[in-house]
Amino acid sequence: MNEQIVILDFGSQYTQVIARRIRECNVYSTILRYDTPAVKIAVLKPSGIILSGGPSSVYAKDAPLPDKAVFSLGAPVLGICFGVQLLAQFLGGRVEKGQKREYGKGTLKVKDSSCALFQGLPAQLQVWNSHGDKLTKLPRGFKPVAVTENSPFAAIENRAQKLFGLQFHPEVVHTPRGSEIISNFVHKICGCGKSWTMRNYVEQAVAEIRRQVGGEKVILGLSGGVDSSVAAALLHKAIGNQLTCIFVNNGVLRAREAETVQEVFGKHFHIKLKYVDASKRFLSKLRGVTDPERKRKIIGAEFIRVFDDAVIELTKKSPKSKVQSPKPEFPIRTPHSALRAPHYKFLAQGTLYPDVIESVPIAGNPAAMIKSHHNVGGLPKKMKLQLVEPLKCLFKDEVRLLGLELGLPKEIVYRQPFPGPGLAVRCLGEVTPEKLKVLRRADAIVVEEMKASGLYYKTWQTFAVLLPVRSVGVQGDERTYDWTLAIRAVESQDGMTADWVKLPYDLLEKISLRITNEVRGLNRVVLDLTSKPPGTIEWE
Ligand code: XMP
Repeated sequence: MNEQIVILDFGSQYTQVIARRIRECNVYSTILRYDTPAVKIAVLKPSGIILSGGPSSVYAKDAPLPDKAVFSLGAPVLGICFGVQLLAQFLGGRVEKGQKREYGKGTLKVKDSSCALFQGLPAQLQVWNSHGDKLTKLPRGFKPVAVTENSPFAAIENRAQKLFGLQFHPEVVHTPRGSEIISNFVHKICGCGKSWTMRNYVEQAVAEIRRQVGGEKVILGLSGGVDSSVAAALLHKAIGNQLTCIFVNNGVLRAREAETVQEVFGKHFHIKLKYVDASKRFLSKLRGVTDPERKRKIIGAEFIRVFDDAVIELTKKSPKSKVQSPKPEFPIRTPHSALRAPHYKFLAQGTLYPDVIESVPIAGNPAAMIKSHHNVGGLPKKMKLQLVEPLKCLFKDEVRLLGLELGLPKEIVYRQPFPGPGLAVRCLGEVTPEKLKVLRRADAIVVEEMKASGLYYKTWQTFAVLLPVRSVGVQGDERTYDWTLAIRAVESQDGMTADWVKLPYDLLEKISLRITNEVRGLNRVVLDLTSKPPGTIEWE
């Protein structure tokens, strides 16, 4: 098992950022709820423990408190912001409401350069603060090692007992040398090596998948997106032909999407791939439908039926597996086909770590509110398949690194997010084959020119939206009365908020000229200048 640092989450919106910073130091990190019993933590043999920040005040009645025994597990402890106040309060110090809230940039002066946290760092550092309460008395055995204008205890330590605290946030980018402070904690204080690499992860994950699956068969719904693609490549490495992927063409895919998936997974990786062209089924269900919510529901429901039929068809063709599978670990949802298709015991999904981290139910905790839903692919109830989720301890950026390690092409690994209901949410009003043809060609030009300019992989999403608005134009000597195309380019960290991207005028001009020259049916190109909020990324 990897060396690991345990992070106790007290509801900070930065807890996941702490976990990522540690992993960037090639050390594995696990996020646990703040009240996880110390005996449970001890089982993980953590090399160190970090107490995260949080929105509460340590003297509030309902303040989230850790099991006190975490301080005597023998592992070094680092408290960050709320975490250091907690540490002080628990060990006999004092925390009081600050006269002034300390928020934003500050200058840290390191007073004791022998403190391991600040080794290799200058005596003065820019740091980022976000706290109202402040430490006014240190617990016995602690001494201050750094100060800010507002706080004589901005960094503290009890070197003998390996307990440390920072009043500021080393994990955020506004503390430019913060990663080095975290690196010093995990390497110099906790003594961790650099064992967390994607190369090592492949070996461990392959062994774990083989252990879980045994000789059974696994099915995976491949969308061509980053997560399902990396999961497919990893599973294939582990269990080869025991894996079958199903790729459904729902009729609202982008240009060459179906072909690329078949080329990469079928021809290049030799993964067993069932390609289901259900475009006619989907498009006939969408005929005459203009309401965006109904379009989504129709596509979701039809996907389940198509997937279900594909599993049944595969079952008819495949011999029953001989190995007895273990009892299901989770009672989860599955296609109806699974009830009739005993050949497939496992359903693989590209669930990521942020989907499985238990959120902390603390009032005012924004991290709890924005928690993403657990992605079960919308498959119906009655599921009897067991889940294989080989990416469930990875963050998105680690999944991309894993994809590269497994030899997946850059176009897949750095693919922009694409919604499940596909072009249906970018083709406003009724979705018709004619409109889809126009949208596909225009979208391909947008993507091609973005890639040629080198900006495609630097933006979160760039795509075309077909507006069912006709206006008058003139092309050659002819008067036209055609549709309008909107270009949408946004910058975002997670899709929750977004800014529109100021694309260079010459690039926009090129895209617009090519679209109006090359795509029949469009005579006007416009640019979407809306951020999220107040807009959304997709138009629908
Ligand atoms: P909005 O339009 O809500 O989109 O600002 C936020 C992010 O989510 C993507 N999106 C979806 N992804 N299924 C998905 O898998 C969906 O139904 C869906 N709708 C929106 C969108 O592309 C953006 O990245």
